[in-house]
Amino acid sequence: MKKNTDRDKKVADKCHLCLLGLIILSSLLTVTSGVNDTHVFTSSGESSVHLPCNNGLLDCKSTTWIYNRFIDLSAVELIAGGMKKKDTERLSLWSDCSLNIKNITKEDYGLYTCRQYVNDKLQGTDAGVYLHVLHVSPSSSSQTEISPGSSVTLSCQLDSYAGVSCEDWIHSEGIELFWVNQAGVNLTISDSRYQILFSSGHCIITVSTTLLNVDDNREWRCNVTHRNQLKTSDTYTVKISAPDSAENKANGTAGSLVRVIVILAEFASFTAPTVILLQIICARRAGRKNSQQQRK
Ligand SMILES: *[C@@H]1O[C@H](CO)[C@@H](O)[C@H](O)[C@H]1NC(C)=O
Ligand SMILES: *[C@@H]1O[C@H](CO)[C@@H](O)[C@H](O)[C@H]1NC(C)=O
Ligand SMILES: *[C@@H]1O[C@H](CO)[C@@H](O)[C@H](O)[C@H]1NC(C)=O
Ligand SMILES: *[C@@H]1O[C@H](CO)[C@@H](O)[C@H](O)[C@H]1NC(C)=O
Repeated sequence: MKKNTDRDKKVADKCHLCLLGLIILSSLLTVTSGVNDTHVFTSSGESSVHLPCNNGLLDCKSTTWIYNRFIDLSAVELIAGGMKKKDTERLSLWSDCSLNIKNITKEDYGLYTCRQYVNDKLQGTDAGVYLHVLHVSPSSSSQTEISPGSSVTLSCQLDSYAGVSCEDWIHSEGIELFWVNQAGVNLTISDSRYQILFSSGHCIITVSTTLLNVDDNREWRCNVTHRNQLKTSDTYTVKISAPDSAENKANGTAGSLVRVIVILAEFASFTAPTVILLQIICARRAGRKNSQQQRK
């Protein structure tokens, strides 16, 4: 018991040290995370995301947007003086000074800071927007067909600003990741078909299962909630290669039916001329007989 509290204290001390470090680093960067920080969730492949700059100023001529993925000195100015610094088609500044990003990739996660200057003086406090990007791998679009009986592991990762650990996001922000089935129901650990593993080190939740024939076209979804509100999700759709599926069996019966028809047709095409030929021969013979009788 005492050991535990000692350890807790050590952990707490470490945390304080970490926090101190964080504060010093943040002030160096003058990127302060305050009460007005916002959290925006999206998933890779989404068409766009909107990052608000909640500082109440209407003039965006002095707006600066700074981007960080991690607390280091490699902060990137995306927008400065209301103009795009990074020449990318994906970014645009809206009339309310908010930043719009198109065609989200999994690399877009991080901290976006909106700053306003009036007469070269910083106005108010920085508005920090944490962009969290979810993505499932392998992605459905890149997958090949999988045969039934083989096992699959799907990972769902939430990438966030690396200055805060996943565990801290989960506890301080109430972020949750979980897999749901096609009916939207949590694939709980109690369902023995699925092995679910959560790695809070990297904010990855994996689901492993052995594929069945019935899983073809089945969709598994990874949902993210923030304070119990659904924020975003990404999916994986199973494509099963089917050498022995019900479809092939249906093809089998249809195939034998076709074969019977072909045999009948062949039989008909062979017998019909024979019958006609026989009829002609008979008719001729009869005709000859008639003429002979007439000659007599
Ligand atoms: C939060 O934003 C409001 C305006 O939206 C502002 O009045 C307030 O000072 C801000 N608070 C902090 C801690 O940044
Ligand atoms: C976004 O993606 C769509 C579809 O892939 C593409 O047509 C469009 O040009 C892209 N837009 C930008 C700004 O990259
Ligand atoms: C997961 O998300 C989907 C849509 O994104 C929703 O229909 C479903 O109800 C969600 N499930 C849970 C348990 O939140
Ligand atoms: C989903 O199930 C897991 C495991 O039982 C649980 O920890 C989690 O809270 C559930 N989430 C939701 C949104 O029901």
